[in-house]
Amino acid sequence: MSKILITSALPYINGVPHLGHMAGCLLPSDVYARFQRLMGNEVLYIGGTDEHGTTSEVGALKAGMDVQSYCDMFHARHAKIYQDFNLSFDFFGRTSTPENKEATYHIFEQLDKNGYIEEKSIKQVYSIDDKMFLADRYITGTCPYCGYDKARGDQCENCTRVLEPTELINARSTISGSTNLEVRETKHLFLNLPKLEEKLSAWVKTKEPFWPEVAYTIALKWLKEGLQERCITRDLKWGFPVNKPGFEDKVFYVWFDAPIGYIGITKQWEALDKEHRHWQDWWLNPENVRHVEFMGKDNVPYHSITFPATLIGTGEDWTQVDFLKGFSYLTYDGGKFSKSENRGIFAEDAVQEFPADYWRYWIMANSPESSDASFTWDLFAGAVNKDLNGVLGNFVSRVLKMTSSKLGDNVPSGGEFSDLEKGLIDTLQTKINNYIKFMEQMEFRKALAELRAIWVEGNNYITVAEPWTVIKEDEQRAKVILRTCINLIRIFAIVSAPIMPETSSKMLSKFNLSLSGLCNFDVAKEINFFHGGETFEVGDMLFERIAPEKIEEMKNKYGSSK
Ligand code: MF3
Ligand code: ZN
Repeated sequence: MSKILITSALPYINGVPHLGHMAGCLLPSDVYARFQRLMGNEVLYIGGTDEHGTTSEVGALKAGMDVQSYCDMFHARHAKIYQDFNLSFDFFGRTSTPENKEATYHIFEQLDKNGYIEEKSIKQVYSIDDKMFLADRYITGTCPYCGYDKARGDQCENCTRVLEPTELINARSTISGSTNLEVRETKHLFLNLPKLEEKLSAWVKTKEPFWPEVAYTIALKWLKEGLQERCITRDLKWGFPVNKPGFEDKVFYVWFDAPIGYIGITKQWEALDKEHRHWQDWWLNPENVRHVEFMGKDNVPYHSITFPATLIGTGEDWTQVDFLKGFSYLTYDGGKFSKSENRGIFAEDAVQEFPADYWRYWIMANSPESSDASFTWDLFAGAVNKDLNGVLGNFVSRVLKMTSSKLGDNVPSGGEFSDLEKGLIDTLQTKINNYIKFMEQMEFRKALAELRAIWVEGNNYITVAEPWTVIKEDEQRAKVILRTCINLIRIFAIVSAPIMPETSSKMLSKFNLSLSGLCNFDVAKEINFFHGGETFEVGDMLFERIAPEKIEEMKNKYGSSK
């Protein structure tokens, strides 16, 4: 049993998550956490909301609330959404807590003590009309590197370059739209990344070929271009006040304390059961912990460069990221999700329209792993109707109904396997081994294709075995076939559990069973789990078809170009 620490990038508190957020880190991290638990590993799965920064201040201002209550409200909203999607966080915390403050102060003190913090006077953009320094995201302008005209002050989302706000061409305030901006000089603290470059680069190089392309390439590109000193303080009120004399009126930059939030949140988790939980077992234990991080590609520079460098600079033995799974974007019909333009389905509405498992299956089967993926209602309905309903759902109901009506509500017993079952066992074993391998490698599209192929084997088997014909002449043979099919239902429930936890437990509950493990899964043994006599319940269909009218309704409600 190994210890696996799993983190999902912490969504900004004031953004309402849409399917793209679910696809780009939240859902895959949950699937992986569930999978690793099923494999018998000790998992700590951490998530939370990223709460500091100007976005929260401005959001609260617009909502007419104080920032704390605004964050409390949104935190609860995020937590509810993720619960509805069945994300199995061991703890879902926040970055604005005393626990995270403690972690942030400690890390900062170490960096300062080791000489990695520099004081510098910098020119900052002050908005005369907004009466505030305009940090990062609140300045929009043209990217000096690629010419994209909606680049934000902290990062160009077109070319992923991290920017300083003053680099932008034709800068304007996104709060008021004002271009009445002025550059003022203030003193700030910087993380001396160039001084950490050598150690960092040596560390990054140990990751090849273990990091997926997306992540490794971005990290190398950064190192090649040479690291710059990064300003880690801001002139704001909402944030952790800087714990250094002369800087008390400033706060730490949101991107400084946000990734430290993973540690802070683990401390929140520890606080609930101090006797049995120790955050250090996870975060100061690199030898025994495998740390896997999930995020969208715009987050990769912070997780592959800035945060690891921050931890290296402390001189302490932190658990660093071992595998960084970066994702491209999920689009809505090829375009952006937008609340204001009423375009695209947001996570809150999604689970009102269809069960979470439908979304979980579609999103993971179409994971934007190596390139962007596009959501369309037709694709979604197609997958639900064909894969879920047509392949898996149909198999389960057909088998149980037939058994129940011809032989009663007990698993049929007796008889021997023929070559057909022996062939089935071999095929399934190969496919399940592949599925496990792809899940271990976090190759989700491949894993899901394999999962579907596993279900298809059930249909292939029953089609060839023809129990409905056989039963007329050889009831004993029909019993073997139907018992085998019933065992397949249980096997399908286990392998599907990380992707569709509710469906899986629905399947198992037909036999009054709970989930069992996937470690060293031996099909030859598992296919004999039910030997006959056990009771079962036919129950409801697992899935409902999505009718063409419903698809039209969805397109009208959530916008569609098609
Ligand atoms: N809030 C950031 C975003 O949504 C992600 C922060 S991840 C963290 O892009 F680890 F730094 F918190
Ligand atoms: Zn750019």
